[in-house]
Amino acid sequence: MPAEPEEITPGAVRLDGRPPVPTRASRASRPRASYTECRDALDAVSPEPGAAKPDATLVVSGVRRAFGGLTAVDVVEVQVQRGVVTGLIGPNGAGKTTFFNLLTGFDRPDAGSWALDGRQLSGLPAHRVARAGLVRTFQLTKALSKLTVLENMLLGAPHQRGEGFFASLVAPLWRGEERANTVKALGLLDRFGLAAKKDDLAGEMSGGQRKLLEMARALMTDPAVLCLDEPMAGVNPALTQSILTHVKTLREEGLTIIFVEHDMDVIRDISDWVVAMAQGSIVAEGPPEAILRDSRVIDAYLGAHHDAPLTRDEEDAVLAEADASIGPEVQRG
Ligand SMILES: Nc1ncnc2c1ncn2[C@@H]1O[C@H](COP(=O)(O)OP(=O)(O)OP(=O)(O)O)[C@@H](O)[C@H]1O
Ligand SMILES: [Mg+2]
Repeated sequence: MPAEPEEITPGAVRLDGRPPVPTRASRASRPRASYTECRDALDAVSPEPGAAKPDATLVVSGVRRAFGGLTAVDVVEVQVQRGVVTGLIGPNGAGKTTFFNLLTGFDRPDAGSWALDGRQLSGLPAHRVARAGLVRTFQLTKALSKLTVLENMLLGAPHQRGEGFFASLVAPLWRGEERANTVKALGLLDRFGLAAKKDDLAGEMSGGQRKLLEMARALMTDPAVLCLDEPMAGVNPALTQSILTHVKTLREEGLTIIFVEHDMDVIRDISDWVVAMAQGSIVAEGPPEAILRDSRVIDAYLGAHHDAPLTRDEEDAVLAEADASIGPEVQRG
């Protein structure tokens, strides 16, 4: 069994001679450039698909995924700059969600590899990808309706323990960890304005509150890179602003964020760099203003059928359907 990343101290020499695996601790110990330094460093990057970044954290090469005859993702190369928000755009069906599914271990590619701070993540299951620092939220929220908000948070905690004889022997040690996880969960709920709802069932929350819950839950593992798949879809305007403010604060704190969004005003506002996909491939990348004027991007949108944003009722119907697929639904409203 390879050692788990958390068990290696910063700078530890591995017996197999490979470089040390980056850990939460080593990430924290690295002198961190400020957000503005990370952003300004992008000025020197040539705005072309696959462009090398001055401080790339996530590096993806040759990732392909086909469903039958349809190539959903065919990304030759993309590098994600550390400490900034990268907007990922593209018309419906461009492959954005499939790309997130692949990177975060929820789906397997037909080919390709990717690494986070030099650590290969290709082939790892989702929970190990998350533990290594790459975490995502879902386009359709996956909060478990019949669990409370706090229970949903604890599901995102690292080190979920099993039951059984061995578990009972070391239970006293784990109780301390559980307490720490609960304290952390309550802190995050407070930060996202959900503390008062901690004992409510997640199924009783609005679609927007569930999106906030998912974001909060994703932070339970202290990720280095957070992939947000349309975090504002179907969210009312007040919560939309709240989500954007949270994303900007997380960026200031050093988190690297990849943000899928269809609203170009939001993309312009939030992104430091934009990557545009069409028909599975990256067709353009560069600063937001330039990319939103880029003819390859405009052609991709004009050439594609594009859904109008969902109304609130439509979003509720979609969420109810997603719940039903997870388990018996707690009826809302
Ligand atoms: N499990 C699957 N089986 C078959 N085809 C799939 C599957 N998942 C995705 N696809 C197809 O892959 C393509 C890319 O879909 P994907 O959901 O990744 O696009 P997207 O860019 O996220 O679109 P949207 O903006 O509408 O969310 C689409 O043509 C979709 O129909
Ligand atoms: Mg999608």
